[in-house]
Amino acid sequence: MANNQKIEGFTHERVETSNFLMIILIVLTISVGGLVEIVPLFFQKSTTQPVEGLKPYSALQLAGRDVYIREGCYNCHSQMIRPFQAETLRYGPYSMAGEYVYDRPFQWGSKRTGPDLHRVGGRYSDEWHRVHLTNPRDVVPESNMPAYPWLAKKEADHASLAKKMTVLRTLGHPYTDEEIAKASEEVKGKTDLDAVIAYLQVLGTAVK
Ligand code: HEC
Repeated sequence: MANNQKIEGFTHERVETSNFLMIILIVLTISVGGLVEIVPLFFQKSTTQPVEGLKPYSALQLAGRDVYIREGCYNCHSQMIRPFQAETLRYGPYSMAGEYVYDRPFQWGSKRTGPDLHRVGGRYSDEWHRVHLTNPRDVVPESNMPAYPWLAKKEADHASLAKKMTVLRTLGHPYTDEEIAKASEEVKGKTDLDAVIAYLQVLGTAVK
């Protein structure tokens, strides 16, 4: 190594030829870089405060969200509209951090075999979703989305909802005692299909 790469007795060569030193310095650099980028997010209002009008998921929507996760819908659908014209023209206003405050865990996804679903709420009727989820080809002939006929046959899991909502409340989701008490009753008798549709219909609707 040339002498001009000497920094106060600490040569570039010494770093490059010592595994130990290299690892320590890499870890240090990544840690500092990571902390500087990540820590402020915990304190920024735009990432920690819900956007105006955002409500925590109702019991039925919450049950539907669990169906969405169980069935792996996130493998083909993202829920994150990026701030590019091609996206906003197709899907609507781009997504904001404050819209995900009540999503634990968030369903951003990273693969778009199908369209982004972040603003699908209200785009179609419940009946359209019912037909589409039971057999997508009935409404979109060229669709390669799998059919989910069993959703209509399975009763939604209502028993665990009160407990789930109580846990979410400790994390800051503003559920009232009444909402928690009525959770099971609200979902009883509903199917997984009803639940997942209720979930889809509220997606992205807080922002007009
Ligand atoms: C193998 C990939 C795949 C999986 C898994 C999948 N989808 Fe899809 N989905 C698609 C494709 C492709 C389309 C576009 C064609 C269509 O509308 O059927 C689509 C379309 C949709 C649409 C209409 C969106 C729009 O804006 O037109 C909804 C709603 C939807 N899917 C919901 C779901 C739900 C809920 C699940 C899980 C139960 C799911 N999808 C699982 C591939 C998938």
